Amino acid sequence: MSEQGTDAARRWTLRGAHTEYVVTVPAHGRWLELVAWGPHGVGNGPSPVAYDGPVPFLTAGDAAPIEYATDADRPFTGADLVVETMTGHRRVAFGFTEAAHDPAAGTLAVTFADPVTGLRAVLRYAVPAGADVVRRWVELTNTGNEPLRLARVGTGGFCVPTPHGALLSHQWGQWAQEFQLEHVDLKHGAFTIGSSQGVPGHLHVPWLAVRDGAEPDGPAWGVAVAWTGSWEITAERDTGGLTRIRAGRRLPDGPLELPARGTLTLPEVAGAYSTDGLDGLARVWHRYQRLLAGDRLVPRPVLYNSWEATYFAVDAKSQLELARIAADLGVETFVVDDGWFVGRNDDTAGLGDWTPDPAGFPDGFEAFIAEVRGLGLRFGLWVEPECVNPRSRLYAEHPDWVYQVDGRPLTPIRNQYLLDLGRPEVADFVHSTLDGLLRRYDIAYLKWDFNRPRTEPGRAGADGPLDLDGAHVTALHRIYDQLRRDHPDVLIESCAGGGARTDLAMAGRADIFWPSDNTAPMDRLAIQHGFLHANAPHLLSSWVTDAPGIFDPRPRSLAFRFVLAMAGVLGIGADIRHWTPQQRAEAAGWISRYKEIREVVTHGEVHLIGGPDQARCAVQYTSPDGRRVVVLAWHTGRSDGPGLLPSRPVRLPLRGLAPDARYRQGDQSYSGSHLSAVGLPVQWTPTHDADLIVLDRE
Ligand code: DGJ
Repeated sequence: MSEQGTDAARRWTLRGAHTEYVVTVPAHGRWLELVAWGPHGVGNGPSPVAYDGPVPFLTAGDAAPIEYATDADRPFTGADLVVETMTGHRRVAFGFTEAAHDPAAGTLAVTFADPVTGLRAVLRYAVPAGADVVRRWVELTNTGNEPLRLARVGTGGFCVPTPHGALLSHQWGQWAQEFQLEHVDLKHGAFTIGSSQGVPGHLHVPWLAVRDGAEPDGPAWGVAVAWTGSWEITAERDTGGLTRIRAGRRLPDGPLELPARGTLTLPEVAGAYSTDGLDGLARVWHRYQRLLAGDRLVPRPVLYNSWEATYFAVDAKSQLELARIAADLGVETFVVDDGWFVGRNDDTAGLGDWTPDPAGFPDGFEAFIAEVRGLGLRFGLWVEPECVNPRSRLYAEHPDWVYQVDGRPLTPIRNQYLLDLGRPEVADFVHSTLDGLLRRYDIAYLKWDFNRPRTEPGRAGADGPLDLDGAHVTALHRIYDQLRRDHPDVLIESCAGGGARTDLAMAGRADIFWPSDNTAPMDRLAIQHGFLHANAPHLLSSWVTDAPGIFDPRPRSLAFRFVLAMAGVLGIGADIRHWTPQQRAEAAGWISRYKEIREVVTHGEVHLIGGPDQARCAVQYTSPDGRRVVVLAWHTGRSDGPGLLPSRPVRLPLRGLAPDARYRQGDQSYSGSHLSAVGLPVQWTPTHDADLIVLDRE
């Protein structure tokens, strides 16, 4: 509470499975503010974020835990919304008008209006049943007679008490090095991550976690943005110890125009809370993403992807040779990657012309797929439908379909341009291309790639401010939704030159994410470690590739690579034509073991033990009924020399077990207490650098 106190009738509690989020409109009615966010009951006591003291050189709003702040509320510190009239005047000052709270449905809508501009904002909240995630979004309506310019359109701020400094965790990256988990000790000022690329991007993941500096293993608050375009998250800690995390869209192309009577819905941002540090926070996100997946949350098939084996040299002969071996190994879905369509002999041509290359498939694509299906495999296909090569029929016919600024040269990236999906005819083309492929061919899996960000902030022949990012993302989501509705049995993998398109909006649409092109074992370990902090295992696509690989020659065993790929959705990307009979037999063994544990990997509670830079490195999955515990563990040290001299085994402290229960692994039985307090022993040797351990409760 700040300023003149709170009216109990204007205080609302959103309850999650274990958490609550309490907000109020103070008596002055100018904004909605947070009272408390934490475990059930946290709102019964003085607010940890309210501030009633003096604010020299600031306004009360600059210190208040405001949920959705305009530049009138917070003139000196960061606002979520900045609006300009056509005459260039800034400031929107809201007043509370009404609220609708449905505790049973877990929803709240609080409406504010600005009498001067006529701007109205509905702040919407929803806490899905069974989750500890607060979903928030804002609907802006211009009820006035003049257009308004929106210079900043964040969706809101999450306020977190950090009296001893804010310990921030985020994930940075680049191509082939995504999801690098890093921690920042923020004493004062602001820390910003984001993307201006029209795609979530390789550089940062739209995810941030905050803990109080004095309690790194205690409460953790998380914020994620559900927007597949340009976005921003800023955490700003004030001198009074409040960290406010602003999240939402970024507008790299300049202000948006909100016409008179126009409405704009700002994307959803989500907040998560756990009492159990970053590891607990990961489980909160996992549970939420599993809810988003709904009835599509079933173990994914073991797949083979031919990209690293054949690159662009795709033809029926090579693919069938791979498919036959894959089928023998126990693979369930065979995915033909880039290179199957006309003109696609390398990355300089072909994108846009989505017709199978008759030279590669002389008996026809149907016949080829039928042969794959005849091996007992389902069939998957790679596409990159939003992009076009200048050397393609599509570009020759529709040069105006790509993003462009009149009179300026285009910027090719990977020799390709980006289609302007906000144009209805382009969205129709993309949808009908994919829908047509799925109707014509027996396809069960689509890998939807995206290998370049948007550079040109313009549309052929168009003037004035356009919301290109908003239109692209909206059309993209609509096409995903249509395909899921019309082809419910087709799984869709979201890929963007690796992991550049993984956000919460995609987690509710794609069935799987491709997190990185880098499958080198030690690099991949770090990538997956970061990924699993923000994303559930059913979204983690991972392939076993050849060693030495294209990224990392450090030797790790085939077992290591298999156990690593089992941490999510197991796939193979190696050129298995060159695998020895022994390697194939070992692979078949791992695949069959994966099929026994993937139910637990898909639905189990995840505990991330240690990490890639520690001697202990494992992921524990505990089945929802607590009866089965699967542990995947990797040796992170040197694979020769002193690191392997005889010593005591590494101990992996397991979590969430019943202390008095007994857990059996083969002949060995452990108590839950032993596994938690002392840990599960794993002994590494030069030939044993990874393990899959299954413990069953007796
Ligand atoms: C980038 C992806 O990340 C790769 O897996 C592969 O599909 C290539 N594109 C194909 O061009």
